[in-house]
Order: sequence, then structure tokens, then C-alpha cells
Amino acid sequence: MPTIVITGANRGLGLEFARQYAADGWRVLAVVRDPVKGRAASEAGAEVYVCDVADPAQIARLKTSLAGIPIDVLLCNAGVYGERQSLGSIDPEEFLRVVRINALGPLLLAEALAPQLTGLKIVAAVSSKMGSVADNISGGVYAYRASKAALDMVVKSLSLDLKERGVVAVALSPGWVRTDMGGMSAPLDAPTAVGGMRRVLAGLTPGDSGKFLHWDGSEVPW
Ligand SMILES: NC(=O)c1ccc[n+]([C@@H]2O[C@H](COP(=O)([O-])OP(=O)(O)OC[C@H]3O[C@@H](n4cnc5c(N)ncnc54)[C@H](OP(=O)(O)O)[C@@H]3O)[C@@H](O)[C@H]2O)c1
Repeated sequence: MPTIVITGANRGLGLEFARQYAADGWRVLAVVRDPVKGRAASEAGAEVYVCDVADPAQIARLKTSLAGIPIDVLLCNAGVYGERQSLGSIDPEEFLRVVRINALGPLLLAEALAPQLTGLKIVAAVSSKMGSVADNISGGVYAYRASKAALDMVVKSLSLDLKERGVVAVALSPGWVRTDMGGMSAPLDAPTAVGGMRRVLAGLTPGDSGKFLHWDGSEVPW
């Protein structure tokens, strides 16, 4: 069975991904930043690794811990929404924190683990329609929007740089989902959104590399 690395696997969408892939018999390598919180992922049948994706040194340590393990799918799911990001109250340090976690982390993870990709050879990043320039009709939320737009560009470049190695790189949009980040008013539950994104991942072809795909399979305009 395939092996998947999932970041942010201790709650929300990441935990649901871990649950569903483990239930299907996949080897799930769950990456969490706090080992105590990793319990839910290990109870779901995943092997737990610790890494704060904002810290390049921890990403280097994760690479060492995973050395020699063939990886089918790298799923960069960990993310934060951020605070103090309205016009008039922008916090520069907070802006950079959000970008480090949401955009730089996935890039460094892909750089570290791409040499180990085999089999399905997929790099997927959980992005957001809030990172779409075309979809931005309400403004605001500067750090989160900019971080996801940066993440989308990272995915596009990965799709080109890793093409010769046969790697397919995509950005995923989960929809608005009931998690700690999405809140309880969101229309989708995590099992539905994750089930949809798993169908998208299962149906990927080389021609999809570099695309931004919604959980229902439709393409999201950048
Ligand atoms: N929910 C939605 O409606 C929605 C919509 C669009 C996109 N998304 C995206 O979907 C992804 C998952 O979101 P979610 O709704 O599941 O959010 P969530 O419930 O808030 O979970 C976020 C996850 O990311 C982890 N994380 C945050 N910072 C990290 C870091 N520095 N290093 C490692 N892990 C870190 C968290 O770990 P801790 O428990 O340690 O904090 C947690 O596991 C995110 O990328 C988010 O932007 C969500």
C-alpha cells in the first residue's frame, strides 16, 4: 500500500486525512508540532513524527528521521489563519509568521522530501480559495490571502521543477469546512471535504500538475 506524509495531522482536515488513509490500509506518517497532540493521529493508526513546519532546522531533522522511507504522497496540510491582518492593524511579524508556516514550510518540506518520492509521486498542498486573486471580491485578510497565493506559486514552480522526475504537484481547495479554523458555521464537514480531496488526488494525471483543484474536482482560477 502507498505511503503518505501528512502535516498538521493532529486535528482538523489533517487528522481526517490520516484517519481515512489509514482506514484504507495506507502507511500514514503523521507530522505534528506537539508530540502530546499527536495521540489522535496515532490512535487513527498513523506513525507520528514531530516537526514545526515554521522551523527549517526541524524540517531538516524530519528529513533525517524519514530517510530511506519511500514516499508516495507528500500532503502539506498544516496551516494557520493568522491575526491582526486588517488594513490599519497589520502586524508585520504576524504576517511573516503566517507566510513561514503556510508557504515557506511546504516549499522546504517538498525540497527535503522530493528525492524520496516514488510510486504515485504526488506533492499536494492544502491551499484556499482565499489565496485566489481572481476569487478575491471582499479584500482584507492580508497575511492569510498572501500566504496562500505564495503557496500556489510554490506549487506551480514545483510542478515545473519536478516534472522530469515524474512528480505531480497540485494545490487543493477544501471548501469552507467545520474545523477549528473554519468554525462551526461552515457548510462542509471534514469527512466530506477530505473524501472529495482524496478522490481528486486518486484521479490525478501528469496533465494535472500545476493545477489548483477544488474538493469537488473543479479547477480554481488563480
Ligand atoms: N477549514 C477550512 O474551512 C479551510 C478552508 C480553506 C483552507 N483550509 C486549509 O486547510 C488546512 C487545514 O486547516 P484546518 O481547517 O484543519 O485547520 P485547523 O483545524 O486549525 O488545523 C491546523 C493544523 O495545522 C497545524 N499547524 C499549524 N501551524 C503549524 C506549524 N507551524 N507546524 C506544524 N503544524 C502546524 C496545527 O497543529 P497544532 O494543533 O499544533 O496547532 C493543526 O494540526 C490549512 O492549510 C488551512 O489553511 C481550511
